[in-house]
Amino acid sequence: MGTSKFDSFLKGKTSEDLIEVLHKTQDLFGYIPEEVIDRISDKLNVPVSKIYGVCTFYSRFSLVPKGKFEISVCMGTACYVKGGDKVLEEFEKQLGIGVGETSHDGLFSIVETRCVGDCANAPVVTVNDKVYKKVSPKDVENIIYELSQEEE
Ligand code: FES
Repeated sequence: MGTSKFDSFLKGKTSEDLIEVLHKTQDLFGYIPEEVIDRISDKLNVPVSKIYGVCTFYSRFSLVPKGKFEISVCMGTACYVKGGDKVLEEFEKQLGIGVGETSHDGLFSIVETRCVGDCANAPVVTVNDKVYKKVSPKDVENIIYELSQEEE
């Protein structure tokens, strides 16, 4: 969507529409770019600080572009009980980034998800369209390696 199209989407929107506008922005750009925050602030007459506050409060919104590989660790009950949190920690440790962040090379980002409907195979990790089942922290290194190889 070009600048003018986005601006016309913003037309008539007020501060009450902030969440809707941010959803649309996230869908369009894959994240909430800084320059778009300025435009939203201008058009909706909402302070930039408030928009940042909303973006950081809701995990659905990201202030940085997603990595090429979005590592999505299920934190639903079944996965959590089977050690999904340990798997998540291992990804964070090995990649040096936290949930909602993207690695410097732009390759990896980490997100948490709710139940993805495959509890029998907990803990489950999905990376883009690929599903990894019964993942243990020991598998993390291999998964990252495998993904890096795909990149080359
Ligand atoms: S809790 Fe993870 S797939 Fe259901």
